[in-house]
Amino acid sequence: MGHTGEASFIPAAIVKPTSDLKPTHSAPSIPADSRGQGHYMLQEIQQQPEVIHTCLTTYLGESAACFLPPVLMALRDRLPVPLQEIHIIASGTSRHAGLVAQFWFEQLAGIPTRIRSGSAFLEAPFPLTPHTLTIGVTQSGETADTLQALALDQQRRAGRSPELQACLVGITNHANSSLAQQVDVLLPTLAGLEVGVAATKTFTSQLVVFYLVALMLAEQRLERDRFTPALTALQQLPTQVQQVLQQAPAIQSLATQWRDASHCILLGRGINRAIALEGALKLKETTYLHAEGYAAGEFMHGPIALLDERVPVIAIAPAGKTQAALLTNVQKAKSHGAPVIGIVTRDNANATERLFDTQIVLPAIDEILSPLLTVIPLQLLAYYIAVLRGLNVDRPRNITKTLV
Ligand code: BG6
Repeated sequence: MGHTGEASFIPAAIVKPTSDLKPTHSAPSIPADSRGQGHYMLQEIQQQPEVIHTCLTTYLGESAACFLPPVLMALRDRLPVPLQEIHIIASGTSRHAGLVAQFWFEQLAGIPTRIRSGSAFLEAPFPLTPHTLTIGVTQSGETADTLQALALDQQRRAGRSPELQACLVGITNHANSSLAQQVDVLLPTLAGLEVGVAATKTFTSQLVVFYLVALMLAEQRLERDRFTPALTALQQLPTQVQQVLQQAPAIQSLATQWRDASHCILLGRGINRAIALEGALKLKETTYLHAEGYAAGEFMHGPIALLDERVPVIAIAPAGKTQAALLTNVQKAKSHGAPVIGIVTRDNANATERLFDTQIVLPAIDEILSPLLTVIPLQLLAYYIAVLRGLNVDRPRNITKTLV
């Protein structure tokens, strides 16, 4: 059965047409312009601890003591019952947030999840499945192919049997955008205006919202002794992201070393495959460097032929289940002459020190939440290389961004 009616206790805040869920803390301030020394992109990267904190406290409340935040309980009551499948539609960086979420929805909540970019969905929609939640993700809320794909999903489900009815959720940074008019439930990311064309703080805030939804969906499945620590781990994120930002000088020096590189490979496994893709997109968008992100296992099957001493390989290698296999891939890359750079966590930094030519050390974190940290050095690397190349880091060529 698709969602029907409105449970009486659903806060108007998240029910269509728009959300007025507001941060309990003021949104980060943005300077009047980006001339002179400052760039919006750097400021927006640096705002991420505050943005994540704002997002968490707005959704969870200051104490985060509740087992399930009321606002997500309301969403839960609008979901198809039983929820059998989740479809995510998004483009660019938002699609990468969706790839991380796909991992959370499947691995934490056990719900089969498909993801497709808006343009690909228009060409080849997912099969029409019953009891399906469709999530559209777009920071601007205005990306045409994402909106058209959601509209197509809505149209093809209209007039069908109850189990095929659309249940559309939107995740966006713009609560009054076109997306907000289209969906049944809106989950704002509350990141404040993002002026830099390369999405940074809106990406991490999309991840926070997705993770809260995943926990909500996993509530029945996770024992309380896993659920409560997951919420506690979220609370540590602002401090941990701040600690990652303190690595800026090391990342700046890496940028200086590789400012003239023509190609770069990013490798990740498991949940961090999505961050390899996102890191490569950040590098492409801002530096025009040819960067490619790969699932490290797949990289071995062909693309490894690209490697030589001029092609740095960045391995996203936090401690966790996928680390051993990834390090084997790194050893192989190194044996072909590639310089290898590791993004590692403190709990494995000693073991990997001799393998990597350079390593950026992040605070220890559960691998499942690690994308919220591993993406930060890649954002900074893209920023610093772009600046060293004298590029317009806030307004890269050929790309536009809707600022609603
Ligand atoms: C692209 C931008 O055009 O749109 C990307 O180049 C961006 O940076 C993508 O991620 C999607 O944007 P949005 O607003 O839908 O998240």
